[in-house]
Amino acid sequence: MTEITPEVLEDYFGRTRWFAGKGRPFRVSRIRALAELRGEHPNPDSTVIHLVTVEYSDAEGGTEDYQVPLSSYGEYIEQIGHAFVTALEHDGGTRYLFDAVHDRYAMALWLRAFVDAEENGEALIDGLRFRRVPGGEPLDPALRGSPLSGEQSNSSVRFDDTAIMKIFRKVSPGVNPDIEIHAELTRGAVESVAALYGWLEIEVDGEVMQLAMLQEFLRTASDGFELAAGSVRTLLADPTQSVEDSGGDFAGEAARLGEALAQVHATLRERFPAETRGSDATGALSRALNARLDHALGVVPELEWQSARLRALYSAVAELDGLDVQRVHGDLHLGQTLRTSHGWRIVDFEGEPGRPFAERSLPDSPWRDVAGMLRSFDYVPGVVRLSRVNPGDVADDDEHLREARGKEWSQRARARFLEAYTAAIDAAEGEGSAPTEHERRLLLDAYVADKAVYEAVYEKRNRPTWIGIPLAALAELDV
Ligand SMILES: Nc1ncnc2c1ncn2[C@@H]1O[C@H](COP(=O)(O)OP(=O)(O)O)[C@@H](O)[C@H]1O
Ligand SMILES: [Mg+2]
Repeated sequence: MTEITPEVLEDYFGRTRWFAGKGRPFRVSRIRALAELRGEHPNPDSTVIHLVTVEYSDAEGGTEDYQVPLSSYGEYIEQIGHAFVTALEHDGGTRYLFDAVHDRYAMALWLRAFVDAEENGEALIDGLRFRRVPGGEPLDPALRGSPLSGEQSNSSVRFDDTAIMKIFRKVSPGVNPDIEIHAELTRGAVESVAALYGWLEIEVDGEVMQLAMLQEFLRTASDGFELAAGSVRTLLADPTQSVEDSGGDFAGEAARLGEALAQVHATLRERFPAETRGSDATGALSRALNARLDHALGVVPELEWQSARLRALYSAVAELDGLDVQRVHGDLHLGQTLRTSHGWRIVDFEGEPGRPFAERSLPDSPWRDVAGMLRSFDYVPGVVRLSRVNPGDVADDDEHLREARGKEWSQRARARFLEAYTAAIDAAEGEGSAPTEHERRLLLDAYVADKAVYEAVYEKRNRPTWIGIPLAALAELDV
């Protein structure tokens, strides 16, 4: 039998949306078959989960492991032609391999295994451990799997209106924070997340590796960023109207989202280690903020005139009495929120991609998440205006008015989000050792500034025409 070659996978990786290393020089250095799932016709003859190691040859270097499930057929399947990977010679015949995420007959094998796990909490197939969360709803094995379209760093498959399975692409040994946090929030019956139904793991070189997560499908969900952008578009269609009168006000939604985040944070604080740290922690945080700024100044010289103000802010952080830390989301923005008919839901607790799991699960300040949301609200009008029209096509007066309206939208959304969040966590905590209003503000401003500095670097490298968004935010930061 011929083997899958590194070249075939290198080519395939370059065409996927989930491969993080596009644009970097890389090669596939190792291909391991982890486990095999088999079914009956019309299923593929076999579906093999591969672990593919990618090695980078740029200055940064390093390796990454990716999960690639491939289903194999004796003939070319036209319907999943877009997911075709390669053809292999085998026993005088040809085997056609497809990315199994796009193959509903292959995905039915995953679902079947999760159904089989209902009774005993787990099902074992060729070393794969399909695990179910106790007390979950029974699943129908006849549900049809279809892959989600859209920008994603992993691959998700929905099973009709019932469940969604996220197949992690970049994988590493250890507990995936997305599974770990969803498990606890599901046990805590937190409303503002999608309930966890189960997950899939396997042992690789003596360590557990988590490969997929099965969750409640939120059938009425709209993407938070899209919803916010729609609201801004409505507003900008007639910028002579005030935000309140335009039908494009987002303040109420923002407030409810603030409450949802407070609920999630309160449960994370109860169910994971949380503590108040002293001056060691505030000093370390201050140094980390300064280090990020040092690095950014090398990439974005436009930040230079802000640096004295930012450094003063970061020095004040070092003087704070203490720092409350707990488990947090770690990568929160409007694109990680969904609005359902029952309220807001927060998704994707994997944390900051690119950092090791062990680091991502360390306690951190919840204000980092709050800052992520505030920055996200600020991006919405900027993104809408940049994607709206050719700037030369509109009259200047209108454009100024639009800019002012956009700012007003974002200020209202941020203020209401923050107000509702703060009120909800104060209610949950009760009075007591809560930091003063001034201390909170200072810490939040520092995280907001840090996030904007990070964005400035990102935009400089990836979308230079967008850099005005974080730069304007830094200039306006009232510190
Ligand atoms: N439980 C769910 N129900 C419905 N849609 C979901 C659910 N979870 C995620 N999604 C959709 O899938 C997208 C990607 O999910 P996410 O968990 O953020 O994956 P990734 O880790 O690849 O970013 C979300 O933006 C959302 O549109
Ligand atoms: Mg996401």
